[in-house]
Parts: sequence; C-alpha cells; structure tokens
Amino acid sequence: MLSWDDEAAAVAPRTAQPAPRLQAVMPTPPFAPLADAALDPGILARTEPRADASNRVNAVDKRIINGQTDVNQLVPFKYKWAWDKYLAGCANHWMPQEINMQRDIELWKNPNGLTEDERRLVKRNLGFFVTADSLAANNIVLGTYRFITAPECRQYLLRQAFEEAIHTHAYQYIVESLGLDEGEIFNAYHEVKSIRDKDEFLIPFIDTLTNPSFQTGTVEADQQLLKSLIVFACMMEGLFFYVGFTQILALGRQNKMVGAAEQYQYILRDESMHCNFGIDLINTIKLENPHLWTPAFKEEIRSLFLKAVELEYRYAEDTMPRGVLGLNAPMFKSYLRFIANRRATQIGLEALFEHEDNPFPWMSEMIDLKKERNFFETRVIEYQTGGALSWD
Ligand SMILES: [Fe+2]
Ligand SMILES: [Fe+2]
Repeated sequence: MLSWDDEAAAVAPRTAQPAPRLQAVMPTPPFAPLADAALDPGILARTEPRADASNRVNAVDKRIINGQTDVNQLVPFKYKWAWDKYLAGCANHWMPQEINMQRDIELWKNPNGLTEDERRLVKRNLGFFVTADSLAANNIVLGTYRFITAPECRQYLLRQAFEEAIHTHAYQYIVESLGLDEGEIFNAYHEVKSIRDKDEFLIPFIDTLTNPSFQTGTVEADQQLLKSLIVFACMMEGLFFYVGFTQILALGRQNKMVGAAEQYQYILRDESMHCNFGIDLINTIKLENPHLWTPAFKEEIRSLFLKAVELEYRYAEDTMPRGVLGLNAPMFKSYLRFIANRRATQIGLEALFEHEDNPFPWMSEMIDLKKERNFFETRVIEYQTGGALSWD
C-alpha cells in the first residue's frame, strides 16, 4: 500500500490535514458545500423564474477559476480554444478493440520473439501506465472539474475524463491480450520503486484538489490549484509519459509489438492534446490572476520540474538497465531535459537546462502524424458514419 505522507510530503508540504492515502481519490461524498454559487448546478431549482435579460450570462464576465457566471450555460463562448479542443477530441475518437493484437500475441508467446530486456521493458512500461490514467481520471473528475468555472473548459474536461478511461482500457487490453500476470502489472505502482516514486510525487497534488474541504478563492488556495494543474499537465501528462511512449513506439518502429504501438500512438495523440489544453488553461488562469505568479511560486515550480526530471530519469534507468532497441537511459537524460525546457517555457518560465537537443526527432513526427497521414482521418470518418443514428 502506498503511503503518500512519506518522502512525497517533503516535496510539497501540506498545510491542512495529514495527506490521505490513495483511497482519498475515491468518492467521499458528500463534498463540503462550495461557497461559490457558480459551482452549484442545483441553484436553478432554488431560484424563482425571472424574465430579466440583464441577468443573462455575459461572456466577458466568465472566469476560469472563481467565476460567478452560471456554469450550466455553455454559451456565449469566451474560451473558444477549449471548445475547439473538445471538438477535436471527439473527432479523434477511437476504441482499443479496433486494433488487431494478433501479431503482438504471437511475438510475445514465441520464446525467441523478444529478448529478456525487451520483455522487462514492456512489463515495467505497462506497470506504470495501467494505473497512471486512473489517477488522471480521478484527478479530473473528483478534483479539477469542481474548481473550473468556465463551462467550455468543463466540457473539454468531461471529454478528457472519458479519454483517460479509454487509455486505461487500452492498457488493460494489451495486458489481457498478451496474457500477462495482471496482479504483477496492476500492482507495479505499489511494488516497483521507480514507478511508485513517480506516483508518490504526484499524489500530494491530486490530494489537494480531491480533498473535500479544499476551496479556491484565496491567494494561497488558488496557488495550490495552479500548482496542481501545472504538475498534472506539464509533469505527469507532459513528462512522466514520455519515456514510456518512446519505448513502445521504438518497438513498433522495429516491427515489434505493432498492435501495442498503434494503441500508444492514439494515446500519445490524446495526451498531446490534454497537455496542450492544460497549458492553455494554466496560461489563461495566469492572465486572469497575475498576482498568483510570484517569484517564490515560480521558483517552487522550477524545483518541481527538476524533481520530476530526476524521477523520470530513474524510471528510464530501471526500465532499461542495459541498452535495448537502440535506446539507453543516458539518451533519455537529454530527451527529458529537452521536454522539461519546452514545458517550462510554454507556461512562461525560463528554460531549466542549457542547450538540450532532442535525441528522438522521430517522436515529434509521431506526435504530428495526424497532420501528415490519412491514418487517423480514415478512422474518424468510420466513426462518424458507423456511429450515426438511424431512425428507420
Ligand atoms: Fe491518458
Ligand atoms: Fe491525459
């Protein structure tokens, strides 16, 4: 059982109650009453009908956090970027069972199909991901969603939450297809130190948002929310996923585990959008609340980035104790620094490391694949026609 108040507490000391355990991200209703009427969708049932147009939602009054406008009214739009991402997410819909896993199954069952190092890499890789996206989904549904008062951003978060469920499904589908030991893979985040350390880094920030008594509206609380959003988008989805994505996509490039690699390509596309949405969200909160972006706050974020890079590098070493697939852990040192620099600058911080180059330019091509090939578009079209309603 993971205990979240060990080393991780030193990363981000909590000022309120002791850090709850993982179960804290499970529902603990009822949530404490929220002070802000904009967070209370039941308000409609308790108000008298009014025919006064002056009370209608005005887009300029909307705010990403601590807004006072009615969260039930999607329009008028203010944050068009969030709505566009929602539409793009829906257009990219996919399901894990569509992908043929037969060649992966044959390769995995063939004693000479993969080396021991490659098998270790696959199992440790899945060991992180099978629970990571559940953490992501719980963080959105039980945490973030409550504090975002722009309905178009909530609309995207609902789509994102479903995509996290699809990702967990995809990892489970790979584990099941290969006939892996489910107990071993699904408990890796308790039992494998390099995976557990990453999750322990994240949990205090998830707990902040899922704590039923947490409320925004003060500088301290709003900074805690912003910090959790940054950790989540830039360090979890934007950094902790990238050793794992690179490994499985490297297998696919060598014509191994091609079904798993295709699943990961879809997931990578979704996660790129989650990360970009998170960055847009963070930057808009900064614009609307510049007083939160203090030198001390920036310094704290900077040290969290450094810690996250270190943890992900240790995970790279653990999953690849020797070179495998033309990859080795030291190559990831440079890659992680390159990504961390990009994330930091995307949210308006200085680059963290000097002159880091991308040793895996093909990963950028993978992320941009949707722009260059018909591959995804074909499926989108299939979805849009296959999923159409028939009234006959
Ligand atoms: Fe995900
Ligand atoms: Fe995600």
